[in-house]
Amino acid sequence: MPTAFITLLTSEPYVAGALVLAQTLKNELHTKHKLAILLDPTGISPKSLELIKLIYDDIIPIDDKLINGSLKEVIAKLGRDELNVTFTKILLWNQIQYSKLVYLDSDTLPLKNLDHLFELYKDTEAHEIVASPDIGWPDIFNSGLLILTPDEQIHKELVLFSGIQDASFDGADQGLLNEFFHLKPKESNSTSKKWIRLPFVYNVTPSDNYQYLPALTRFFKDINLLHFIGQFKPWHTKVNSSTLESDSRLHALWWEKFNKYYTEESDRIGLLNINLAQGEAHKLNFGKLINSWDTNDTPSQLIEPFDQTTLEDDSQPSKIFPWEHREEKKPTRIFHKVNEDPPIRKPPILKSSRKSGTSTSTSASTSASTSALKSNYEFNKNQDNDFDPEKSLDEISKLPIKLLSKKGESESKK
Ligand code: UDP
Ligand code: GLC
Ligand code: MN
Repeated sequence: MPTAFITLLTSEPYVAGALVLAQTLKNELHTKHKLAILLDPTGISPKSLELIKLIYDDIIPIDDKLINGSLKEVIAKLGRDELNVTFTKILLWNQIQYSKLVYLDSDTLPLKNLDHLFELYKDTEAHEIVASPDIGWPDIFNSGLLILTPDEQIHKELVLFSGIQDASFDGADQGLLNEFFHLKPKESNSTSKKWIRLPFVYNVTPSDNYQYLPALTRFFKDINLLHFIGQFKPWHTKVNSSTLESDSRLHALWWEKFNKYYTEESDRIGLLNINLAQGEAHKLNFGKLINSWDTNDTPSQLIEPFDQTTLEDDSQPSKIFPWEHREEKKPTRIFHKVNEDPPIRKPPILKSSRKSGTSTSTSASTSASTSALKSNYEFNKNQDNDFDPEKSLDEISKLPIKLLSKKGESESKK
């Protein structure tokens, strides 16, 4: 029986993502597996459908079977009404023409060939789901990459389950699938369903407030798949390679592929939803971010080509990250001795992609942070000549305890 990578596409704003995903899997990473797409033809323009047919092997129309969660709930819990349609992922288990599926959200970008996943998990059964931990709550899985075995019985169970109250704790598919495969069975000590944990590198979800940039540097070469979670997808914003910030630099990886495979001006206008202010994209309510359709620029002016040499040189993965432009950033934390007049020396620049004005809570544990801080210093030493890493690390490692005892002291004085 065949196996396939499969994605879900119910609406026009995600077409660009689905196309880039397929181009990357097929033409960049040369997968041996089929590319399938569960697609709602009523939500997609004829032109987009043509582009999809050019790259996907199996188009599976969702006829009248779009499965919606409760709109009220998804708005209350996630604030993203477009996600109530993601209950439709239930239909994945109904695709019994495949023996195994690797499902990918259309906002994912594989950086490595993922074919080995089919081999590694070929023996998993229908009651098992394979997925990476979610960055927001690592004790559950993120539903942007799933390895699953289609099965009629599980499909039926999921349909029934989705109808019950509190089936999904977030109102959308991630809450639903976690409850079904992982949380409810765990609570009742049942072994009938199981989540098999995949490493985080298979579903890396950095966003504009990603907190652990040293790890991103350390493990960048190991990343198999990027997943652009959140309301703002790479294709929603203009990429300007000279001013790229953290997430934009990762977005540039997506733009590189888009610019490579979609060069026709007319395709680009459609795919980027330019001049569709009243169309599907409009309902996403993108707020203050400047979107391509908010300007009068032509698409070619909007999207500056990304310098591919920075991406192809394996020895320089950090080139795409913001700390290359550290000199433009202000330190967000100042470390100094608690009992001394602050601050006595320039701090190491702890990397944070947080936008100014928001608080930062980079909470590296002291043992783990020692080497990260050292390498950070190595990286920064030309700029921070008066920073003594040994001494300062020592101070930093004592800081939380000092702060705690100080807090305790002042409270006991009250
Ligand atoms: N999706 C879709 N149309 C929609 C909303 C979602 O086709 O209107 C699909 C698409 O494949 C998308 C996935 O459902 O990637 C999940 O939504 P999204 O990726 O936006 O969720 P996030 O990862 O940001 O939580
Ligand atoms: C997560 C997943 C996405 C899912 C959404 C709603 O962020 O990335 O695939 O649709 O939650 O549950
Ligand atoms: Mn997603």
